[in-house]
Amino acid sequence: MTATLESAVDTAARTGMRTAKVVVVIQQKGGAGKSTIAVNVAACAGRSAVMSNADEATGAPIVAAGIDVQGTLEKWCAGVREEALPFDYVVTKSKLGILPGIIADPDRRRIIIDTPGFLDIDPDAEWGADPLGESRTADALREVLDVADLAIVPITPSKITWDECEFTIERILKPRAIPFLVVINMHDPGKDKGEKQLNKVKAWIDERNYPRVADPIRRYTLHEHAYENGTLVTEYRMSGTALNGREDFMRVALTMEQML
Ligand SMILES: Nc1ncnc2c1ncn2[C@@H]1O[C@H](COP(=O)(O)OP(=O)(O)O)[C@@H](O)[C@H]1O
Ligand SMILES: [Mg+2]
Repeated sequence: MTATLESAVDTAARTGMRTAKVVVVIQQKGGAGKSTIAVNVAACAGRSAVMSNADEATGAPIVAAGIDVQGTLEKWCAGVREEALPFDYVVTKSKLGILPGIIADPDRRRIIIDTPGFLDIDPDAEWGADPLGESRTADALREVLDVADLAIVPITPSKITWDECEFTIERILKPRAIPFLVVINMHDPGKDKGEKQLNKVKAWIDERNYPRVADPIRRYTLHEHAYENGTLVTEYRMSGTALNGREDFMRVALTMEQML
């Protein structure tokens, strides 16, 4: 390394210039797939990451974290066999100050953050005002949004999540100028009704000019039991469905990389 470059790297480390990019999975509505997406995208990114011996000592390049007091993400990860977990995870329980510390760590490349089941929203907040509430979780969410490089917003073919998708984008992400990516989750493959619903939700997203992952994450029973079984898409036992399921989350991870 040249002396100039060396001193530039030193300065970067000292001043906390970061290599880590922060991706937050957010959607006001619970049940759209935030936790499933956060865990599995971290797994796909972790399996695609460049590894070296140094990672053993310094920690994995990919980190997953949850700011949920319930700790869904941490509990899921704790249930996965250690050798099968291609990323590190952190427990925050909405405590402030933990995530900024990880972001400053020069060995970390991606921090993927799961957000609470449903957001603490002030129902009286006026247009233009920050609708996030006053709770500890809302503060933790603000801290994460302040450093977010990208938001992944899940939506389902069923209309039940559409309004909340729009609210999340228009009221929380756009005012903070956070780039976002919509991903359709729970598509029922191989059914005429499923295809019709899929086309409707795609049209709805495209009308609003929201960037989206080209193809949806399909609904498979396999994913439903992943949390209690302590499995990740990268570890499913080989089957046609397992491959399709893995492809869906790999596609999200790749699209995410293109946007970072
Ligand atoms: N693509 C999918 N196929 C089947 N089940 C899914 C899929 N995505 C999520 N689920 C299931 O739907 C439920 C809600 O997902 P979850 O990730 O917990 O949503 P959120 O974190 O947004 O509340 C969970 O039981 C999960 O296993
Ligand atoms: Mg969740």
